Amino acid sequence: MCGIVGYIGEKDASQVLVKGLKRLEYRGYDSAGVALMNGKMMIEKGKGKVSNLEKKIDTKKLIAKIGIGHTRWATHGEPNDINSHPHVSESGNIAVVHNGIIENYNSLKKKLELRGRTFKSATDTEIIAQLLEEIYTTTKGITFEQAIQLTLKQIVGTYGIAVVSLDQQDKVYVARKGSPLLLGIGDNEMFIASDASPIVEYTNKVIYLDDGEMAVVTKDSYKVKTIEDVELTKEIHELEMGLEAIEKAGYPHFMLKEIFEQPRSIGDCMRGRINPEEGTIQLGGLRDVMDELVNAKRIVIAACGTSWHSALVGEYIFEYLARTPVEVEYASEFRYRDPLIGKGDVLLVISQSGETADTLAALREAKERGALVLGICNVVGSTISRETDAGVFTHAGPEIGVASTKAFTAQVVVLIMMAIKIAMEKGEITKKKAKKLIQELDSIPEKVDQILQECDEPIQKIAKMFTYAPNFLYLGRSYNFPVALEGALKLKEISYIHAEGYPAAEMKHGPIALIDEMMPVVVIAATKHTNDKTISNIEEVKARKGRILSVMNDDNKDVKELSEFSIQIPTTKDYFSPLLTVIPLQLLSYYIAVNRGCNVDQPRNLAKSVTVE
Ligand code: F6R
Repeated sequence: MCGIVGYIGEKDASQVLVKGLKRLEYRGYDSAGVALMNGKMMIEKGKGKVSNLEKKIDTKKLIAKIGIGHTRWATHGEPNDINSHPHVSESGNIAVVHNGIIENYNSLKKKLELRGRTFKSATDTEIIAQLLEEIYTTTKGITFEQAIQLTLKQIVGTYGIAVVSLDQQDKVYVARKGSPLLLGIGDNEMFIASDASPIVEYTNKVIYLDDGEMAVVTKDSYKVKTIEDVELTKEIHELEMGLEAIEKAGYPHFMLKEIFEQPRSIGDCMRGRINPEEGTIQLGGLRDVMDELVNAKRIVIAACGTSWHSALVGEYIFEYLARTPVEVEYASEFRYRDPLIGKGDVLLVISQSGETADTLAALREAKERGALVLGICNVVGSTISRETDAGVFTHAGPEIGVASTKAFTAQVVVLIMMAIKIAMEKGEITKKKAKKLIQELDSIPEKVDQILQECDEPIQKIAKMFTYAPNFLYLGRSYNFPVALEGALKLKEISYIHAEGYPAAEMKHGPIALIDEMMPVVVIAATKHTNDKTISNIEEVKARKGRILSVMNDDNKDVKELSEFSIQIPTTKDYFSPLLTVIPLQLLSYYIAVNRGCNVDQPRNLAKSVTVE
């Protein structure tokens, strides 16, 4: 949610910033802007994509070696040229880019207006630039660094900020509270970004700032301290991802690339963790907490969006295999209802980005109340992965498409591995059964590949038939009920078609009223133990002239006969089937969105990493 990038070194800063902003555009794309310094401050910004910004920057006017940039997802103030970042102070000497929300901006603004300051934008960010200048210019003997500290102490809310000032032309100042920021250490150059994607091209050495920390960055040095002025020595981490992971590799969209990457990403998620020959599972990140997990009376899982759907799949699998009661919570609801969680409980949070504010808040709430807090995250170094007591990385690789695809399947794989491991430790399943399950799990990447090869073309044809349908209903039972939710969410997000996911049997308690000859009903009929019941539900839809589009096992003649269109997938254990059934639904939503001319990778109003509550 909003992307920040900064550069100081010997290169043309505008080029580094624009390239970095393009890589960060998936975090927000309402508007973009840069502040460049070279004796004077040059601000270029405006509504729209980074490519619009690129056209505006006239490098003939100013070659700068220091600058900050921003790509915005609006929270305060509509997306327009004035509200775009950077925001500058009254004199124009200080420029700020900001990710987060300043909650007390109204009261601060009033105070500053009384002191004669005029505000140009409707954003909360402008407060930072104005307040900083007010403090810096009116407090005798203060350094710029101290002025930043005093400013941040007056601010209530969340921020990741980067600041440049004409008074300090060899420095970029950054600070974080609740919004990720990292420093990239180059050779006589330094980078700043809200995630690693703009940095990876230049260096793999990074420092993650923690909440309450700030840094003063020059081209060949950095000083990290707390806002309270305590100097810190930070660990330098090595980035593992390569540049190819954040490029499209010939695919028209990141989303399609990420859908097709799933045989590999699922394989990467299992690699070194399952041993099909011996029938064992090693989850190194959970080794120290395995006893507590095995003895847990219940596990609460908190997540948002697609990660919440994978949590629901996890609930079915944990309860069936490990016989551990599981409750799945929307992270955004969890903390606001005085949750019954504490010592002896386990909270498992799931997050692709590891930065989702609601999920992070749930984690902190449960931790404060004494629960063991575990995480399943994709982004290494993310806040959630660092604040949990223990956890498992999904190793799916960077997910750039705003609609989550490969993160979902990798999260489900981790949940399956956890469930089998706990079930074995608890003695709920025999070694022999565990081995069979692990061998079946090992075959999943190949089956996903088969679906991608065999179903892609037929799905493109089906997508053409339904491109202009105004509504969709998705039905599934048992392990595939969460997949119905996920299929509907994918379609809504990227094609803007209204879609609802429902447990198939629940349909007759309301949504059945929606069904007529215009209503496409996607039925996920690949759970064997509920097959007969699902067939009855299909009959109910057909009796009302609904159009059945089924995702079914290739041997399911009954469902095929009842369906107007059917997508056939290989068979697997019922509890692994979400890993297969979700793939055609991802492709279907992708092709419908493309046919409708939608911006698949950057759907309207959405941002990849939702760092505000
Ligand atoms: C759906 C989607 C969102 C995210 C949600 C949680 O395609 O991308 O619903 O799943 O915002 O994000 P993470 O997993 O990063 O916590």
